[in-house]
Parts: sequence; structure tokens; C-alpha cells
Amino acid sequence: MSCDTENNEGGEDKKRTPQHVAIIMDGNGRWAQSRGRPRLFGHHAGARRVREVVECCPHLGIRYLTIFAFSTENWKRTQVEVAGLMSLFRRYISKEMKALAAQDVRVRFIGDRVRLDKKLVHLMDTMEVETAGNVGTQLTIALNYGGRDEVARATKRLARDVADGKLDPDLVDEETLPKYLDTYVLPDPDLVVRTSGEARISNFLLWQSAYSEYEFIDTLWPDFTAEELGRLCANYSNRDRRFGAVGP
Ligand code: IPE
Ligand code: IPE
Ligand code: MG
Repeated sequence: MSCDTENNEGGEDKKRTPQHVAIIMDGNGRWAQSRGRPRLFGHHAGARRVREVVECCPHLGIRYLTIFAFSTENWKRTQVEVAGLMSLFRRYISKEMKALAAQDVRVRFIGDRVRLDKKLVHLMDTMEVETAGNVGTQLTIALNYGGRDEVARATKRLARDVADGKLDPDLVDEETLPKYLDTYVLPDPDLVVRTSGEARISNFLLWQSAYSEYEFIDTLWPDFTAEELGRLCANYSNRDRRFGAVGP
């Protein structure tokens, strides 16, 4: 495995490395179907890809990696697929716990845990606690996550603070809401990648990605490699991010 990019060494270039990369891991189902296998076969192959991508982050200078594992809309899938995915998440967490801890990876989960089964939530909580002291790659897994749902839940908490007299509504501005989002400890993503050829964001990090750079690539998630991520980081280093201002 090679994690080299042209932009991961040296002062000025280092600044151009995306600090936070967020990935919409899409295409597992099509990957499996093209092999005449059930969709869950693709999900298992997809889960195995995550390790290489996480391992690659320190070499690429990526400090925050956020991956979209299950959306608030994915409940619309068949009961067999949803149950298979939930069991895969439980197995993934149990299996990867030690390896991630050994790599100094800190794991956080974003999304609404209320609808998830208790055993899975317990594993998620344990993984967060076990890795809480780790200072390497900050991995965030979006599980039962939807950007609109997140903003709605954040607004509810904010409204409660106003009702309780803890927050002055006149002081609410665009710095206030992010403090109530699931991602409150994370910087906004610099680069959002979506695999599988679909050019949409499917309710991912709606607030946070207002000024992210995007890459929509054809690779199906189970075929995604560290090399490809390196290439996307190199592309990113050539982008001119203006944030509404005028370029140099
Ligand atoms: C992404 O792959 C994984 C999840 C959404 C859970 P898909 O399952 O959406 O794969 P395609 O898009 O059907 O190929
Ligand atoms: C987005 O993929 C969600 C995840 C990758 C977890 P989907 O496959 O669910 O998105 P749509 O339905 O094609 O928009
Ligand atoms: Mg899909």
C-alpha cells in the first residue's frame, strides 16, 4: 500500500492537505450485484476497505476522517438489508476496537442513536470511551445520520436552552447552531468525497459542508484505495478556496 502524495511534505504544501476529509461510501450494492452476489456481500467488502483508508490518514496528513455508514433514509431498505447492516456494524465495532486503539485512532459516532438497538449503542459508547484518550486520526462514523435530522435535533436543544433562560435568542448567530450539532467538536470538512458515480450529497453534513470542496468519483466503495485518496488529496492541494472573497 502506498499513501504518498505530492502534497504531504514540507511547510507551504502541508497547509494544503485537507485536514478533514468526509466520505460518502457508496456503491456497495452495485459492486456485489455486478458479481452476482447479494447486496450484503458488498457491504462486508465495503467495511473491509475502511481499515486501509483509516491507516492511510496519518501518511496523507489527514487529521479528521468522517465516514457515512448509514443514513436516516437507509431504513427504507428491505428488512433483510437493514438487519444485515446493523449486524455488520456490531461486528465491525467488536472486531476493529483493538486495531483502532493500537493505531491511536479516536472514534466518535454522529447521528441519532434513539432508533438503534441497545446492543449496538452500547458498543458505540464503549468504542468512544475506549478510544477517548487517543490523539491520532479522529475518526467519526455517521450512523443513522441525516443532516436535516441533525439540524432539527440541534434546533430542539437550542430552543430548550432559550426556554430555560440559558440562551438569549438575540445572540443566536451562525456560530451558535454548530455548538448544538453532533459535530460540535469537529472542524468543517475540507474535502467531501462520494464514490460510485452519484453526484449528490444525500443529506450528509449539510450545514458543515457549506464551503467544502467536492470530489465525485466513479469508483465503487469496495474498490476504493489509499492510492485513490492520495490522488484526491493531491487534487485538493491545487484548488483555490475563496470562501466568497476574490482570489489572489
Ligand atoms: C452504500 O452502498 C452503503 C449504504 C448506504 C449503507 P449502497 O448500499 O448504497 O450501494 P448502491 O448505491 O446500492 O450500489
Ligand atoms: C448515502 O448513500 C448514504 C450512505 C453512503 C450511508 P445512499 O445510497 O443511501 O444514497 P442515495 O439513496 O443514492 O441518495
Ligand atoms: Mg447507494
